[in-house]
Amino acid sequence: MKRRVLVATGGGDCPGLNAVIRAIVKRAQKEPNWEVVGSINAFDGILTEPQEIVVLDEEKVSGIHIRGGTIIGTTSKGGPFEWPIKNSDGSWTTADRSDDMIRRLQYLGVEAVINIGGDGSQKISKMFHEKGANFVGVPKTIDNDLSATDFTFGFQTAMQEATNAVDKLVTTAASHNRVFVLEVMGRYAGWIALNAAIAGGADVALIPEIPYDINCVVNKINSRFDKDRGFAIIVIAEGAKPANGQMHYAESNEIGYKNIRLGGIATKLINQLKEAGIETDMRETVLGHLQRGGTPIAFDRILATQFGVKAFEMVMEKKYGQMVAYHHPNIVSVPLDDAISRYNHVNPDSDLAKTARGIGICLGD
Ligand code: F6P
Repeated sequence: MKRRVLVATGGGDCPGLNAVIRAIVKRAQKEPNWEVVGSINAFDGILTEPQEIVVLDEEKVSGIHIRGGTIIGTTSKGGPFEWPIKNSDGSWTTADRSDDMIRRLQYLGVEAVINIGGDGSQKISKMFHEKGANFVGVPKTIDNDLSATDFTFGFQTAMQEATNAVDKLVTTAASHNRVFVLEVMGRYAGWIALNAAIAGGADVALIPEIPYDINCVVNKINSRFDKDRGFAIIVIAEGAKPANGQMHYAESNEIGYKNIRLGGIATKLINQLKEAGIETDMRETVLGHLQRGGTPIAFDRILATQFGVKAFEMVMEKKYGQMVAYHHPNIVSVPLDDAISRYNHVNPDSDLAKTARGIGICLGD
């Protein structure tokens, strides 16, 4: 019987997931005795009845490196340690099914698991590792908020999408003498917003790491208008917040979905600007999941492919409890502990932030 490695993709999807899956399969096929299987929708494929496990062979992964999403599906809800169970009254509770999952993996003859996901997924990898299961992590997220790796794949594609949006908004803003506020993703990190603002030549970039003073934003906008002629572009991260204020979010009532849903800060900012005396026409654009869907750019395809090859080699070397990471120019393995112990935030004193300030971008402080 062949040795089996199981692959799962968990959390929000991300451009490059399919390139990782393809690379794992291609690398495994160079070995005489390995088989790759995929669990559908993260670990739901193992834990639900009937199980949904697919054999991933060369034919299944052919050409998928250019496709967005994940061919084995994903979910942001629940997980083996907090499996959602709906009560008869409509409320829900959770159960720890991690032991059940380990038994099921053994029954399926799975020797190791490659878990491709963000911080939530890598916490799950670590918890399984501590229970003696053989897990290797692969970091993914458009937010680039995982520490221990220079970049996660998917981030560059998201940043490019956000930059394309700035480019487009510049032409319409200039034509109408308007202020445009572009809200981008990133959760508690401002990587997408700050980079897109620099690349697109925005006037203001507001990020979670620097709570903004509305008066600074007002002054910057005014400096961009001569009488009523001019325009301004503001890129705001979904997790940005005013000084002494709160992030804008909604609690989710989806069963098993633990994340808060960030969003709405662009509208809030426009209202604040009106209150602070800006009379110019203002419009908002919320880029949303356009940043996550679609074809990965070349950088992300390459990084994802490197991660996939390395992850399989880590399985062969039994480097469990570790995560693949990019330490330029090398692809290395790091302890899962290092990866999830802290978030990767934008440092307000970093060279990137200094560059933004250096070309006159207002960071709200
Ligand atoms: O973590 C990736 C991400 O796209 C965040 O940038 C965003 O806040 C969140 O996921 C959106 O999640 P969902 O697709 O579940 O609404």
